[in-house]
Amino acid sequence: MSDAQPHPDTPTPVDIVVVGSINADLTVRVARHPSPGETLLGSGGVITPGGKGANQAVAAALQGGSVAMVGAVGADAHADPATELLRSSGVDLSGVATVEETTGLAVITVSDGGENTIVVVPGANATVTAEFVEERAPLIRSARAVLLQGEIPAEGFAAAARLSTGRMVVNLAPVIEVDRQALLAADPIMANEHEAGLILEQLGAGISSDVPEELVSALLDAGFPSVVLTLGAHGALVGDATGLTRIPTPRISAVDTVGSGDAFAGAFVARLVAGDDLVTASRHAARVGAFAATGHGAQTSYPGPDDQLPEV
Ligand code: RIB
Repeated sequence: MSDAQPHPDTPTPVDIVVVGSINADLTVRVARHPSPGETLLGSGGVITPGGKGANQAVAAALQGGSVAMVGAVGADAHADPATELLRSSGVDLSGVATVEETTGLAVITVSDGGENTIVVVPGANATVTAEFVEERAPLIRSARAVLLQGEIPAEGFAAAARLSTGRMVVNLAPVIEVDRQALLAADPIMANEHEAGLILEQLGAGISSDVPEELVSALLDAGFPSVVLTLGAHGALVGDATGLTRIPTPRISAVDTVGSGDAFAGAFVARLVAGDDLVTASRHAARVGAFAATGHGAQTSYPGPDDQLPEV
């Protein structure tokens, strides 16, 4: 990590640059989620590494990608646990700054039924502005693929899109209002059904249907060259100018789905830069996402190169 120093002019080349969030995840397990005003007892309370950006970077690195992260953490006790798996999975952290704000924090509850709620305090992630991103231009320009999410300021997102010279993959989670041209450069846009509806609304192309095929067609009609619609336990639906393809997912017994969408996104980009087409990359990503749902936490549940992925 650097202390908010600009990235060197001649960075070590990497295939994938993730410009995104780094969080400390504070996870508690509860029998059921509390109602407003109610106090419940839970268990857990351990800090594990998270943040959609960092999660996707780690997943891509564990699937063989050479990955660099652009983001920020605070000079506090959460910075080390938040970056531990980025470091151990070999992600280049020269684009990560230590800033005055506190490390991003996600407060997560996971119920016995497997449902989760997440509240994110952005902290240092809010400093990933256009200026911050532009200071790391050589690194971003050098990448064959840039992977973005919605947990950094919209101006940082737009700057990263402008600087991207390779393929840009966007998982706009959460859905924030971003520059239209930057958003439509996503190839593919990756979203779940809820996010897809919000993205269409943002583009002034909202539809009343939640039928996956209609959502993907509407996103293609809105101007995205390609789309990956993730459907949880029902896999995914991939679309581009050649048509739509259903991607199956393995049947697994899910214990914690926090971060499994990020595992899908990271693995997908790793395979895309390795030469897979959209459909082949998505088939692999669905198996990685399913594996991640069988373990606890986000990055702590991701498969490494030696792990056996579930079969479809
Ligand atoms: O997608 C899961 C992630 O969302 C968590 O790791 C949490 O940090 C929030 O960013």
